[in-house]
Amino acid sequence: MPNTRRDFFKLAAVPLAWRAFEAKLQAAAAARLPDAGNESYWQMVRRQYPLEEGLLYLNAANVCPASRLVLDRHVEYLRDFHSNPSFQNRDKYVDMRESLRAKVARMLRVSPDEIAVTRNTSEGSNIIVKGVDLKPGDEVLITDHNHPSNHDSWRVRAERDGFIVKSLPVPIPAPSAEKLLADFERAITARTRVIAITHVTSTTGIQYPAREIAALARRRNIYVHLDGAQTFGALDVNLAEIGCDSYSASAHKWLMGPLEAGILWVRAERIPQIWPSIVTAGWTDHLKGARKFEVFGQRDDPRVVALEAAVDFISLIGMPAVEARMQALATRAKVQLKEMAAVELKTNLEPELSGGVVKFRLRNVPTQKAYDLLWQRHRLAIAMTPSGDAEGLRFSAQVYNSMDEVDRAVAAVKEIAA
Ligand SMILES: Cc1ncc(COP(=O)(O)O)c(C=O)c1O
Repeated sequence: MPNTRRDFFKLAAVPLAWRAFEAKLQAAAAARLPDAGNESYWQMVRRQYPLEEGLLYLNAANVCPASRLVLDRHVEYLRDFHSNPSFQNRDKYVDMRESLRAKVARMLRVSPDEIAVTRNTSEGSNIIVKGVDLKPGDEVLITDHNHPSNHDSWRVRAERDGFIVKSLPVPIPAPSAEKLLADFERAITARTRVIAITHVTSTTGIQYPAREIAALARRRNIYVHLDGAQTFGALDVNLAEIGCDSYSASAHKWLMGPLEAGILWVRAERIPQIWPSIVTAGWTDHLKGARKFEVFGQRDDPRVVALEAAVDFISLIGMPAVEARMQALATRAKVQLKEMAAVELKTNLEPELSGGVVKFRLRNVPTQKAYDLLWQRHRLAIAMTPSGDAEGLRFSAQVYNSMDEVDRAVAAVKEIAA
């Protein structure tokens, strides 16, 4: 382990394996390789992940593996922390959290002071749910397919504080962005104070027209919270352009970062209007910007480094390239599934109305049975909704997956459906 703080930064910033990978990526970029269809480039990316041989892993919407480089940096800092847990050795994490904040802000095109480092999307959304001022009679507009952290959380608070939560049904698949927008326009009343939506749903993979909904809301001074669990690290999200008021996300999904780490962005003008949920040691009345939302007591500091490493890693590939590849993998699955008579595809084909989540149902095989068979016969690791309007099997592929893996997963579905 290095002796001085400066040495440590040097070591942390560029471990040898990292440098080697960066050089390879730069060479590939110079040769114009990182386009969505260039398998040799993406195979090189795949080799950075410790995924088990023979495992067909298509469950990015739940948890992504971290790359070796991210894991190495995480483990290195864990060892350092536990070999010397003194305040003096841990001092460095103050600067490191600021460095992470700046990188996340750059990625999302917002200001670092608007970023809080949280534990996951659930926590970020709940900070907003608990923190917005609402009184009896006010209305909050959500959708039936919001995750519980942005759905049940509103309902539970409404029971206590007497406001009204209205939930919109979700069309499957979505007829158009205009129709989704019109549903919100119709549901807004003079009492609507908040619209809380999901950027891309985990249920059927609809991408909501967040920018248009935010514009509609802004004209009426309605607060818009966007759940970004399925878009952070998947789409090249530009929050300045979207124009919502807050955005929550997790690191362990598409960003391929550590577990139990996440971010919450809150627009600068809105920060003073949101009450913090947790106040403990580290609190002052003068915390700058969104930092007031991340005072949780002792934090797992090495995790912050791993989160920064995940941002570094994905930035080496570049978010436009990640988004293009992720969409190409999803489209490849959707197009083939749509052609199968035995399949009901629940996700839109259009990239602007979807993301990385692909949901479908087999007409003749119970969903639970299909899910079990796919795992038992093919080691295909996916997600499943057993009942309801979103019933079905869920594929979600990220940059470590190949087109061949998508084809094999579809072939496995064909076999089960026959
Ligand atoms: C849309 C959406 N929101 C929120 C969450 C919650 O994420 P976490 O468990 O990381 O808080 C998920 C998890 O799958 C999700 O899909």
